[in-house]
Amino acid sequence: MPSSCQSHDIPWAKPTFWGKEEQYVLDALRSSWISGGPFVERFERDLAEYLACKHVLAVANGTAALHLAFLALGLKSGDEIVTPAFGFMAAANIALQLGIRPVFCDVDPRTWCMRADDVKAVLSPKTRAIVAVHSYGNVCEMEPIIALGRERGIPVIEDAAEALGSRISGVLAGTLGAINTFSFHATKTITTGEGGLVATNDDALAETARLYRSHGLRRQRHYWHEVPGHNFRMTNLQAALGCAQFEHVDAITRERRRVFSEYELRLGGIPGMAMQQKALQSDPLIWAVGVLLKPDVFPQGRDRVSLALAEKGIETRPGFQPPSEIAYFKEKPYPVADELGRWVLSLPTFATLQNSEIEHVCRQLSTLAHA
Ligand SMILES: Cc1ncc(COP(=O)(O)O)c(C=O)c1O
Repeated sequence: MPSSCQSHDIPWAKPTFWGKEEQYVLDALRSSWISGGPFVERFERDLAEYLACKHVLAVANGTAALHLAFLALGLKSGDEIVTPAFGFMAAANIALQLGIRPVFCDVDPRTWCMRADDVKAVLSPKTRAIVAVHSYGNVCEMEPIIALGRERGIPVIEDAAEALGSRISGVLAGTLGAINTFSFHATKTITTGEGGLVATNDDALAETARLYRSHGLRRQRHYWHEVPGHNFRMTNLQAALGCAQFEHVDAITRERRRVFSEYELRLGGIPGMAMQQKALQSDPLIWAVGVLLKPDVFPQGRDRVSLALAEKGIETRPGFQPPSEIAYFKEKPYPVADELGRWVLSLPTFATLQNSEIEHVCRQLSTLAHA
């Protein structure tokens, strides 16, 4: 957990340990399987079944998962990927590291996620992948994005780091793209401390990803490198935590839904802010509840609102910094992403957050209107 979480009465995020976390981590430790091991295999089986996905690969973190997805797709220096201008910048950062140009598209002002038309506007002959980021657990409208990718022969990667348990048209996010990724960071819906997952139904992509995950080595033959891979592996200790977390995924999901409904109920009535709207036919499991503050109602600005809440013991986070404000991207303005980056405030969201605490957060926030 970020240390800041400890210093607030109501942290922004908090992992939920309701089950056998300690026992399984201790089991792994005592078994001496602390790098790879049986918990990794079990965690992969659990997640494959949950996602109804043919291949899942547990990896060190969600950023490594994206890196691995890029390698599996054969992306290389000089290629371009399209990714949204509002969202966590992991895909864009990894692209830059690999010499790939991240091309940003603006997002829908209602859902805060990319739409097919936004993507279409920035495609070029060099586009080799579309990275759909399901920001805050809200889901991009995937059908038109997948259709666009298919029409142009461009694979879609879903960055579902924030969207475990979210659905669109009844299907789980992170199972629709050619190859998709998740994060199990401490703040995420279920956690392995640091951790991530690559999910695909494509045998060839899975095979390539498996090779790149572990220095191009095949299990059957030691020190025989087939591709210039990396070490993206998840440890057995991480997976032990993940297996215990997964045993409670339904309860965690239920409680996160309660938290979102409670916020929706209370924030719906507060003038001067808008909540993220869900895409048509989607059923998101919101990972972090965000509100878009209206400048005329919060003239002190989002960051002062955040500071005032911190003084009351409530931790919040700003919206994602848009690429136009990140020096190394050297980007132009993106009107929607820039506004979201400036005015979104993300509120405490975790499974054990009590309704009384949500009421307190909402009350404190409402007292800051017209302040
Ligand atoms: C959308 C998104 N993608 C990727 C990542 C990277 O995941 P990790 O922190 O596990 O590397 C995150 C992490 O917060 C994320 O929110």
